[in-house]
Amino acid sequence: MKPKTTIPVKTPTGEYPIHIYDGVLTDAGAKLRELGFAGKCAIVTNPTVGQYYAGKLTESLTDAGFSPVLCEIPDGEQHKTLATVAGLYDRFLAAGLERGNPVLSLGGGVTGDIAGFAAASYLRGVPFVQIPTSLLAMVDASVGGKTGVDLPQGKNLVGAFKQPEMVLIDPLVLETLPGAEFRSGLAEVVKHGIIADETLLEKLRAGDFSLGWMIAAAVRVKVSVVEEDPFESGRRAVLNLGHTFGHAFEKLSDFRLRHGEGVAMGIVCAARLAQSLGHCTPETTARITDTLAFLDLPTEPPAHPFESIWAAMGADKKKAAGKLRFVLPRAIGDVDIFADVPRSVVQSILE
Ligand SMILES: NC(=O)c1ccc[n+]([C@@H]2O[C@H](COP(=O)([O-])OP(=O)(O)OC[C@H]3O[C@@H](n4cnc5c(N)ncnc54)[C@H](O)[C@@H]3O)[C@@H](O)[C@H]2O)c1
Repeated sequence: MKPKTTIPVKTPTGEYPIHIYDGVLTDAGAKLRELGFAGKCAIVTNPTVGQYYAGKLTESLTDAGFSPVLCEIPDGEQHKTLATVAGLYDRFLAAGLERGNPVLSLGGGVTGDIAGFAAASYLRGVPFVQIPTSLLAMVDASVGGKTGVDLPQGKNLVGAFKQPEMVLIDPLVLETLPGAEFRSGLAEVVKHGIIADETLLEKLRAGDFSLGWMIAAAVRVKVSVVEEDPFESGRRAVLNLGHTFGHAFEKLSDFRLRHGEGVAMGIVCAARLAQSLGHCTPETTARITDTLAFLDLPTEPPAHPFESIWAAMGADKKKAAGKLRFVLPRAIGDVDIFADVPRSVVQSILE
């Protein structure tokens, strides 16, 4: 039998478990009942994911005595809006969902962010369960309590911190995840390895993709960071490694680049910048670049004029007090936040 992993997460108001094992999806109903819930619950999913897994989840919940109502939202970041959340409120009301009835998210990071925000705000908050189905959502978006939606002015501009009752990660669902989405998620796994787990990076480079192990290792890094800084007031910014550059590259590609592809290039840029500033060795940069390339992720930044990259980075949310901050590696497993990086050095590594 495959090992079952449970990772507890401490939050400012309590603790919740992250259960990781093959087949946990079919145990969802029993696990929810163990937490003391009963009666109605809502499943939020999209047609892409729902076609494979909504039936299984519904059955598991029904078997455990729940009356689940399926609430479908359209697939895609362009639907991560207040209008989609308003549509969910309508569905919840029509189903008679009450204060103690949980909302379950079944999908990638987009679904989790939308469903979590709906759960945080409907009736001033109902219980929430995350069942992430993309690699990115498993290792990143489903952990840490951030939920929210986009506005026409920018991404993730409205939201709330909403800690889940539990997170259920079933590696088996990755079977249907498109390869490009899987690779994009791997960029975040590499990021977590660089932040705090050298063994994780070594295993990836050696081609060891034992999913349960890899996901648990990446989740542990995220958990340790968010436990230290639950409301993102300081240290949590290290999770933005590669993102200041990465977001700029994504934006300049008109979002044709996937998030993970932008992040992969961004991580390489961060390593080159760290090296130029004397914070890390050429060997560290080489190891990072080599691992990303081995995973088929892009490592060379796109050829945009420096001015436009700089402008795209400047508009990024990570601007603190008018100065760009960069998260840079000192070594594998040791990253830090640097303000006051001279523009000329950033230019030199990009050109
Ligand atoms: N809340 C946070 O802390 C946090 C952190 C990182 C990212 N995010 C957010 O997460 C979102 C990106 O998440 P994502 O990369 O998962 O994108 P996504 O949710 O759009 O999923 C990518 C695609 O894969 C499909 N999919 C998901 N699981 C599948 C499966 N098992 N089988 C088949 N298809 C599947 C989705 O329907 C979608 O088409 C962004 O909106 C980002 O802002 C949030």
